[in-house]
Amino acid sequence: MTRFNDYYKNYIDGAWVDGGAGRIEVTNPGTGAVLTEHALANASDVDRAVQAAKRVHESGVLTTLRPVERGRMVKAMGQYILDNDQMYAEMLSEEQGKPLWEALIEIRGAARYFEYYGNQAETVEGKSIPLGDGYIDYTVYEPYGVTAHIIPWNYPVEMAARSVSAALTTGNTIVVKSAEMTPVTSMIWGHAAEAAGLPKGAVNVLCGYGHEAGAALAGHPDVRQVVFTGSVATGTRVAEAAAKNVVPCVLELGGKSAAIVHDDADLDAFERDIRWGIFFNAGQVCSAMSRVIVHESRKNELVDRAVAIAQSLSVGPGIDRPEFGANMGSMVSEQQRDRALGLIAGAVDQGATVATGGHALNIPGAFLEPTIISDVTPHMTIAQEEVFGPVMSVLSFKDEEEAHQISNSTEFGLVGGVFTKDLGRATRATRAIRAGQIFVNEWYAGGVETPFGGFGKSGYGREKGREALWNYVQTKNVAIKMS
Ligand code: NAI
Ligand code: MG
Repeated sequence: MTRFNDYYKNYIDGAWVDGGAGRIEVTNPGTGAVLTEHALANASDVDRAVQAAKRVHESGVLTTLRPVERGRMVKAMGQYILDNDQMYAEMLSEEQGKPLWEALIEIRGAARYFEYYGNQAETVEGKSIPLGDGYIDYTVYEPYGVTAHIIPWNYPVEMAARSVSAALTTGNTIVVKSAEMTPVTSMIWGHAAEAAGLPKGAVNVLCGYGHEAGAALAGHPDVRQVVFTGSVATGTRVAEAAAKNVVPCVLELGGKSAAIVHDDADLDAFERDIRWGIFFNAGQVCSAMSRVIVHESRKNELVDRAVAIAQSLSVGPGIDRPEFGANMGSMVSEQQRDRALGLIAGAVDQGATVATGGHALNIPGAFLEPTIISDVTPHMTIAQEEVFGPVMSVLSFKDEEEAHQISNSTEFGLVGGVFTKDLGRATRATRAIRAGQIFVNEWYAGGVETPFGGFGKSGYGREKGREALWNYVQTKNVAIKMS
């Protein structure tokens, strides 16, 4: 059992401080036990954090550094994370519900972002534009200033790492608003910033309610750029608040992503994609493989295999099972679990079949059985709405065109996949599927290096990859008339 302190504070302008909105209890969704309390920020705490970040930005201390020096600081934050991975993984497992081994993957994955972007600090170069005799013209990329990072609870550390690393690399300052269900591990940002020698106020971290601290941050007039990951409804609100200040956002809003499985697909290999695509992090993954669209000739075989994978998983409190095995933790909260149960019940009402799972576990904690639903048709609610849990829907198709059409039949467009040995089929699917990233023959192929983001209501802007650096800079063109 991790030993939590009784109480954790917000980190504003280099100091650990109480919250103007009081405290919130933090629970372990794997047991239902209260772990600790966390400070809750109100709008005036948000304002103090933004003013601190603004002061640091305007001082020029980060922007005038030679980029290699800034990159070294960013990499030092990653090193701090790696040096303390076990401690943070244990805390993360308990406050979020994921098994310890998954929590370690997340913490190390977070460090990887700081390595990747820190290495690129000195590669953000402008260009020179010829204007004919008598002129010199060039572009420079300047940071926005104060950037806001509104973080979800499914990967509380990795999602913050993803945007904070790129924003700092390009010389911006940071205010993180952690998710109120998973705030404790976010103290990592204060400690990492101190370990890396960043000036006080460059990185600020606060927990607060979305409608209060989150809304105050998204709409703050001195915030110059906003990154949000979460639901479509909240993302829309965040974008509206930012738009009032004419501030750009990056929105990553989840999906209902589908794998198209052709009649020639290697189903032995696909079992691995089922294991990871829908049961990793108990399915609370924006790019989860929540729909499988299989050729009708192989539907029964695929459902049987999926049922076997689901039934092979052991499910329980993550911190009690430190062994590296195939297991699955709890969902983040009973509310999220019950929401998933409601969607499963609705699917049955609409004519789908629960092939396995579909129930809460009869133990304390927010557990849901690994669930496979078959006989799903494209217009059912379960085929349209994000469950955000360990629930995979199986649909079937007769011909390729129908498969593509079903794949594109939701409002989302985050990722998509195609499984076939036929290169022609695969490449036709890569063109037909409306999504920001396409997987061919391996779900989740890619990494920190590959741009990630949505089409449609899955959001806009790209995170990860070099592209993400350009979220955090604005182009300044300098045109010089030579005398
Ligand atoms: P949410 O989108 O409301 O919460 C995400 C973050 O936004 C949290 O930090 C929250 O405090 C903040 N927030 C809430 N209201 C805000 C506001 N008015 N202004 C600024 N920030 C605000 O998500 P929620 O309600 O926790 O989960 C509901 C569903 O959202 C899930 O079932 C899932 O489908 C989806 N979701 C998707 C995620 C993804 O990775 N794409 C992550 C989390 C949730
Ligand atoms: Mg919790």
